[in-house]
Amino acid sequence: MKVGRGAAAPPFLVMDVITAANARAAAGHHVIRMEVGQPATGAPAGAEQAAIRALNARRPMGYTEALGIASLRARIARHYAEHYGVAVDAARIAVTSGASGAFPLAFLAAFDPGDRIAMAAPFYPPYANILTGLGMHPVLLECGPETRFQPSIAMLEKLDPRPAGLVVASPCNPAGTMLSPAELAAIAAWCQANGVRLISDEIYHGLTWGAVAESTAAAVSDSAIIINSFSKYWSMTGWRVGWMVLPEELVRPVECLAQNMVISPPHIAQLTAEAAMDCAPELDANKARYAESRAALLAGLPSAGFDRIAAADGAFYLWCDVSHLTNDSLDFAARMLAGANVAATPGVDFDRTRGARFMRFSYCGAVADMRAAPARLKSWLTPAA
Ligand SMILES: Cc1ncc(COP(=O)(O)O)c(C=O)c1O
Repeated sequence: MKVGRGAAAPPFLVMDVITAANARAAAGHHVIRMEVGQPATGAPAGAEQAAIRALNARRPMGYTEALGIASLRARIARHYAEHYGVAVDAARIAVTSGASGAFPLAFLAAFDPGDRIAMAAPFYPPYANILTGLGMHPVLLECGPETRFQPSIAMLEKLDPRPAGLVVASPCNPAGTMLSPAELAAIAAWCQANGVRLISDEIYHGLTWGAVAESTAAAVSDSAIIINSFSKYWSMTGWRVGWMVLPEELVRPVECLAQNMVISPPHIAQLTAEAAMDCAPELDANKARYAESRAALLAGLPSAGFDRIAAADGAFYLWCDVSHLTNDSLDFAARMLAGANVAATPGVDFDRTRGARFMRFSYCGAVADMRAAPARLKSWLTPAA
C-alpha cells in the first residue's frame, strides 16, 4: 500500500534526549534541563484570568473567523505600531495555531510543488521538513560565525537559478543570532528585486539582548510574509496561538486555505493571547530571568570547555561548536546526560552534517539550574587527577 512523502519526515532527535532525561529524573537524579525550547513559566496571570473569566461566564467557544477574532487582529496591529513604529493594517493579520500552524498556510499560499526555498543552515527543522512534505525543495545555505549563522547577500547572489522563496529567522533557532536591521532590509530589498518571496520568522522577538537591534520585515517589505507566535516571549506554548502579517495578495488565499485546513484557531486561546498582550510586567520579569541565566552561562561555560559560542544575540539558546570535544554530538549528548546530568540538544537536529560538531544549550529553565550547569559540565569534562 502506498505511503506518502510526508511519512518520510525525519524525527526530532531532541525527543530522544527528553525521554532519556525524563528517565534519569524519574530515577532520582537532579537533571538540568537545557534541551527544551519552551519557557518553564505558564501564560501570564492576567491572560489566564481572562480565560477563566470567559469560561466562568459560560461564553460559548465556537469557531471564529478563519483569520482570527477581530479584536485580537486589531491588538496585534497595535503591537506593530507600539513596538516597532510600523503601521500594519489589521486586515493583513492572520491568527494561526502557533507559528507551526502558519508554516503550511504560508508555504501553500506562496509556493508550488517543485519550487526551491532557501534558508540558512543550521535551521529550525520543520521549515525544511514541511516544505519537503509539500513537494517543495529546501536549499540550504551553509552559514557560520562569519555571518552570525545568517544568510548574506553574497550567498543569495550565488543562487542560480534564483529560489522562489527565502526563509529567515532573527533571532534564529538554534544559533540565537540575529540579522542587523540594515542586513534584514538589504535581504528584503534583494528578495523584492529578484522576485523571491521572503518569509521572516520573528518568533523570538521580545527576547533580544541588545547587541543587535530587533527589526521586523514588516517595516521594510510589503511582499514578505512575517510569522510570529505567542509561544516564546508571551510564554504560551501550549495555547497554540501565533500570527502572520500577510502581503495584500495573500490574505484571501490564506483565509481560504485556513477555512479548509483548520476552520479557525482555538477561540479560548485567542482570547487568552489578546489579554497576554497587556501583561508586559510579568513577561519582562521572565525576560530578566533569561538575561540572568544567559549572563551566568556566558561567564561560566568557557572555563568549563565550551568556549566557541555563537553570538548570543537573542532567543534563549547558545549554539556551541564542540568540535574540539567530539565529532558525534548525538553520542556526546547521551554521555553528557549520563555523566553530568545535563540534558542539551545535539546539533544534528539542526544541521545534518556540521551539526555533529555542535550542541545547543537552551537557557529558559530555572535560573539556579543555569547557574549550576557550568560547574557540573566542568567536573564532567575534567579528567579526575
Ligand atoms: C524558530 C521557530 N519557529 C517556530 C517555532 C514553532 O513555535 P510555535 O508553533 O509554538 O509557535 C519554533 C519553536 O520552537 C521555533 O524555534
